[in-house]
Amino acid sequence: MVSKINKIISKKNNSKIVCLTAYSKNIAQAIDKHTDIILVGDSLGSTLYNFKSTRSVTLEMMIKHSQSVRQGISNSLMVVDMPYNTYNNTSQALKNCKKIMKLTKCDAIKIEGGQKIIKIIEKLIKNNIPVMGHVGILPQTTRGKFKSKGKSTKQRNQIIRDCKLIENAGAFSIVLECVQRKLAKEISNSIKIPTIGIGSSNNCDGQILVTDDVLGFTDSKMKFVKKFIDLKKSITNAAKKFNKEVKSKKFPTKKHSY
Ligand code: KIV
Repeated sequence: MVSKINKIISKKNNSKIVCLTAYSKNIAQAIDKHTDIILVGDSLGSTLYNFKSTRSVTLEMMIKHSQSVRQGISNSLMVVDMPYNTYNNTSQALKNCKKIMKLTKCDAIKIEGGQKIIKIIEKLIKNNIPVMGHVGILPQTTRGKFKSKGKSTKQRNQIIRDCKLIENAGAFSIVLECVQRKLAKEISNSIKIPTIGIGSSNNCDGQILVTDDVLGFTDSKMKFVKKFIDLKKSITNAAKKFNKEVKSKKFPTKKHSY
C-alpha cells in the first residue's frame, strides 16, 4: 500500500499539491475533499489569539487544536507545526514530536529552519517521524518586517544548501515562504521532494495559504494573500438577520420549538 507520504511525494512533476491550514474540526471537514495536506499551523497564534508573533504558541495549544482538526480529516495528510521553543535540541524535539504524534494522531510534523536544525530533522526521521521542512521567512525567528528571501547571493546559496540538507536528511517536502520566484524554480528543479510555496510563485510543486486569509477573516497585508470569499461579511449578515428575527419575534416559529 502506498503510504500517504509517498502519495504526496509522487505528485511532484505530476500534479500541483494543494495545502491549507485548519485549526478546528469544522474547517478541516469543509476543506478536506479539496486538499492534499492540511496543516495545523502555529499561525493560529496571530490568527486566532491575536498574539504579536507565533513565539507565544505553546505545545498544549497545538495539541488541543490538532485533536479537533483530526476529527475533520479523512482524506488529506495531516501535518502539525512544532511551536517555538519545543525543538531546541534533539532530545527535546524527539520527546515533543512523539507527544504530538501520539496525542493528535497526525501524519507528520513541520519545523522551521535548515542547516542549523539538520541534526534534529535527522533524529526525528530516524525515529519514524515524517518531517516537512520550512525555509525562507521563518516566522518563529524573524524579527521585524517580513522581507522576501533570496535576493543576495549569500542568502540564495544558504537557502539552496538548507533545502539540499533537508532533503538528504529525509524530509518529505519543504515549505518555501516568500522565496524569490527564480530561486523557488531552481530549488524545485534541483530536489526530488516537493516544494510547497507561500508567496514563492507557481514555480513550486504546491501551494499553501492560511485558510482564515482565504475565507476573508483576516486583514492580512501580506502580498501572497488572496481572499477567495468574504465569509466574515456573510457571517455578519447572518447575525444581523438573526438579530432582526429574534427582535421581531419571527424566530423561533412552532417549527423550531418543542
Ligand atoms: O503556521 C502556518 O500556518 C504556516 C504556513 C503559513 C506555512 O507555517
